[in-house]
Amino acid sequence: MTENKEHTVSDSGSIVLIGFMGSGKSSVGRRLSYRLKIPFIDTDSEIERTAGCTIAQIFKERGEEAFREAETDYLGSLMPEKRGKGSIIISTGGGVPLRKENRTIIKKLGTVVYLKASPETIYERIKDDTSRPLLNTDDPMKKIRMMMQERSGIYSMAADIEVDTDGKLCRDIADEIIRRKKAI
Ligand code: S3P
Repeated sequence: MTENKEHTVSDSGSIVLIGFMGSGKSSVGRRLSYRLKIPFIDTDSEIERTAGCTIAQIFKERGEEAFREAETDYLGSLMPEKRGKGSIIISTGGGVPLRKENRTIIKKLGTVVYLKASPETIYERIKDDTSRPLLNTDDPMKKIRMMMQERSGIYSMAADIEVDTDGKLCRDIADEIIRRKKAI
């Protein structure tokens, strides 16, 4: 669905991973970092480090909007003019592409890769994890389906490359990303 893409591909060597919670962005990002020998950054971890508390605490004490502001601020700090020019692998929080200004930033940061996963796969990965406030509900599966419906079009629109991850190993997903990035 290239006709709905919002942008042309960045010429930087950096890769920005987007996708739903539990789609494997951090694991695939670490693998890409290892394979390509470039540093790995996880936006959620950096925001937690700067705030000195967990994302769940930020949501609880300051609200989701404060977290979204912190996300946009942090992404802005990764722009080459602020950080320098070396390539990086960035794993983003699942809500990052929802803001247009974030989509503008990530397209400038590098090749945007959407890791796609089915609701069932996501549920299996997150069901015993309480660190994601948006999925702490009585019926997480229902919430996953609802949020995916709202978000999948936005993820696709923001992405240069879309990769199906169901049933695949991190190693193979990383290899596929490297191969497909070379081809664009
Ligand atoms: C969120 C995803 C989380 C984290 C926060 C909100 C979202 O990151 O940023 O809980 O809105 O999808 P992961 O995608 O790394 O779980």
